[in-house]
Amino acid sequence: MTESGRLLYVIVCAAGAARDVGGLVALAQGEGWTVQVVATPSALDFVDVPALERRTGRPVRSRYRTPDEPKPPRADAIIVAPATYNTVNKFAQGIADTYALGLLAEAPGLGIPVVVLPFVNDALAARAPFRRSVESLRAEGVRVLPSPSGSDPADTGDAIQESHLWALALGELSKTGSPDAR
Ligand SMILES: Cc1cc2nc3c(=O)[nH]c(=O)nc-3n(C[C@H](O)[C@H](O)[C@H](O)COP(=O)(O)O)c2cc1C
Repeated sequence: MTESGRLLYVIVCAAGAARDVGGLVALAQGEGWTVQVVATPSALDFVDVPALERRTGRPVRSRYRTPDEPKPPRADAIIVAPATYNTVNKFAQGIADTYALGLLAEAPGLGIPVVVLPFVNDALAARAPFRRSVESLRAEGVRVLPSPSGSDPADTGDAIQESHLWALALGELSKTGSPDAR
């Protein structure tokens, strides 16, 4: 539990839409969440780290702590947005080779609600491995939203579409039954 009792981890992956993740952070804060941003190592090139740190008042985390560092507080809920093809597939496979994936690997077993908002193009979304990943995550209780149609890895992002999607992801979280999200 945090000072507000509601700590949301926003896990951001290396997709074009990551540049607008500050909009998701602001929306979540508006709903009363304290937000911790976690970036995959590749996503660090896509986000404005100082701006996110100013907004959250917390360091953006992208690597596992060292053994001497204190354990960070546990999330009350997690949103993965934008979620890449790579991270969705690794999450489904139980791979934990980034800090972000390590958090995700434990979340279902800890009962932490997770909402995933994939941004993958239609070619990747149609692949059997990706469809299997989505199915298997949903079977574990992870809320995986549909990838926005036409989403393209080379896309530079569409801020209007994204702000609508950030709201959808937050809305999905409120349906998870998380005591702190009600
Ligand atoms: C400009 C650019 C935009 C990208 N956008 C996406 C995207 O929207 N979705 C996606 O799945 N991958 C996208 N990629 C590819 C990912 O960055 C790549 O698969 C990376 O390994 C993902 O790492 P992560 O899942 O650890 O964040 C993009 C790559 C570049 C260079």
